[in-house]
Amino acid sequence: MKILLLVHSFNSLSQRLHVELREAGHQLSVEFDINDAVTAEAVGLFQPELIIAPFLKQPIPPSIWRETPCLIIHPGPPGDRGPSALDWAILDNRVEWGVTVLQANEVMDGGPVWAFETFPMRTTTKGSLYRQEVTEAAVVATCRAIEAITTGHAKPTPQSQLPLTKTHREQPLIRQQQREINWQQDDQQGLLRKIRSADGSPGLLDTLFGRPYYLFNAHPEPSLKGRAGEIIARSGPAICRATCDDKAIWIGRLKKHGDASSFKLSATQLLADDLSAVPEVPHSLESQSGYPAIHYQQIENVGLLHFSFYNGAMGTRQCQQLQQALQQAKERNTQAILLLGGPDYWSNGMDLNQIEAAPSPADASWENIQAMDELALEIITTQHQLTISALQGNAGAGGVFLARASDWLWARRGVILNPHYKDMGNLYGSEYWSYLLPHYCGAEQAAAITQSRLPMGVQEGQRIGLVDDAFESHRDLFISRALRKAVALTRQPGFTTLIHEKQQRRTADETKRPLASYREEELEKMRMNFFGFDPSYHIARYNFIHKIPKSRTPVTLATHRRVSPS
Ligand code: COA
Repeated sequence: MKILLLVHSFNSLSQRLHVELREAGHQLSVEFDINDAVTAEAVGLFQPELIIAPFLKQPIPPSIWRETPCLIIHPGPPGDRGPSALDWAILDNRVEWGVTVLQANEVMDGGPVWAFETFPMRTTTKGSLYRQEVTEAAVVATCRAIEAITTGHAKPTPQSQLPLTKTHREQPLIRQQQREINWQQDDQQGLLRKIRSADGSPGLLDTLFGRPYYLFNAHPEPSLKGRAGEIIARSGPAICRATCDDKAIWIGRLKKHGDASSFKLSATQLLADDLSAVPEVPHSLESQSGYPAIHYQQIENVGLLHFSFYNGAMGTRQCQQLQQALQQAKERNTQAILLLGGPDYWSNGMDLNQIEAAPSPADASWENIQAMDELALEIITTQHQLTISALQGNAGAGGVFLARASDWLWARRGVILNPHYKDMGNLYGSEYWSYLLPHYCGAEQAAAITQSRLPMGVQEGQRIGLVDDAFESHRDLFISRALRKAVALTRQPGFTTLIHEKQQRRTADETKRPLASYREEELEKMRMNFFGFDPSYHIARYNFIHKIPKSRTPVTLATHRRVSPS
């Protein structure tokens, strides 16, 4: 089918559908919902048989849905309507939620239902639910809807005829007052629920040191306690605030309220001047104390490094900490090291927010890319252990190449990779990608990947050699299977030969062309990106951080807008 994805932005769900529907053999194009005229123009140019709207902020004009079937993906079960579906689901402590694929008509979210899926709710943020459960359910339901449409046997069911409709209804746009925090009354779990219902966007409004901030990235603290509302500790990027039930929570990210140009930064960075008297809790790798960004476990002779950096962003400090953690893992009695990333993201490369906030973003970018490179080098030059990047969550830009620095790259089914930098103002990229990508995928593929700027699924990743193995859709099952596979690798009789071969390969590669030479060449180009005359990277980063809506759809996505060579 010719399918047009009509989206407010090409977000994680839209990327996943793009990947899945391409894999299923459909012809895809994408248009951003800039205005009705642009949408109509896209439909005229592409002539889709079907329009799918995974993430829209404005209704599709009737002139379009009357002519072409339009499927709306709503992140709620049948009957649920409104723009804050997941926020309400978390606040209302729902045990089960769903995704509905309905046909657009004159009633917003009220059209007949082609398919729906339900899933058990997980205690997590809105963003995480969206990127995992909602995305998985949306893919299944959308594929089922497309099948029903193509076979032509089924018709969509009016919402009133579906049993779930009775327990769900239209919910209004949520306001800050409806989840306002009261530190004297809300217990730890209630507070976490409120903050998580607004994380990633818009954040939960609160007051800290007499100033208003939006809160994000909240975690329970297992043992510290204090007077309700008091800031009792800090650790890494996070502050710890006591709750009224003799417990406490960590808050990792804040955004200033009332300043349109503000963006998320670490809590300790934004409150630096206020925290001098607040005690610091060191976070040790194996203990649960402090803010849990990096955690180490060892099972048999396999080291498991979990690193869950907010939004997968790896600033200079995070890269250095992870490098140290990896060094420590190597010094232990380990034969394999699993680099597990976090539940939502493995890595999205340099921390662009932190760079944007620095007095000199060019200098901060330079420092950050050096730290990323040092970490990549630490992985590539691991001599005595097998390194395995096990991606439970998505990876983008330098994060993908950092993952490829390991001997093996395994990914959970459904993970999306964006192995390219060019969308960030033609950034050249580093992390030894110019060594790694041709090595695993061949020079021709490497060029195609970096130019195409498209999201990639794990099946395609496997076909081209970027991904070595992909298994399990469920995150917990993925981790336990990755661990079993890693243990089996270390137990096999040929393990010593594997290590020996790996060392020989590295020595041969180094003789052919030293790693330092790849790095030097990459960084020469990056220096131009950061310090040169062309400001594209700085402009692209500014637009990305400040979420400036795109004024047109890039032709890499809007295939219908490509001018064919005459
Ligand atoms: N630094 C800081 N924040 C980042 C980030 C980075 N490198 N990558 C993603 N984020 C943030 C986004 O700003 C967004 O923040 P929000 O919670 O305030 O909305 C959140 O992570 C989710 O990102 P989003 O773009 O909505 O996710 P996605 O799944 O739709 O897209 C990517 C994933 C990787 C394609 C996209 O995030 C991206 O292009 N990131 C930048 C990658 C990059 O250029 N890194 C630097 C070069 S190494």
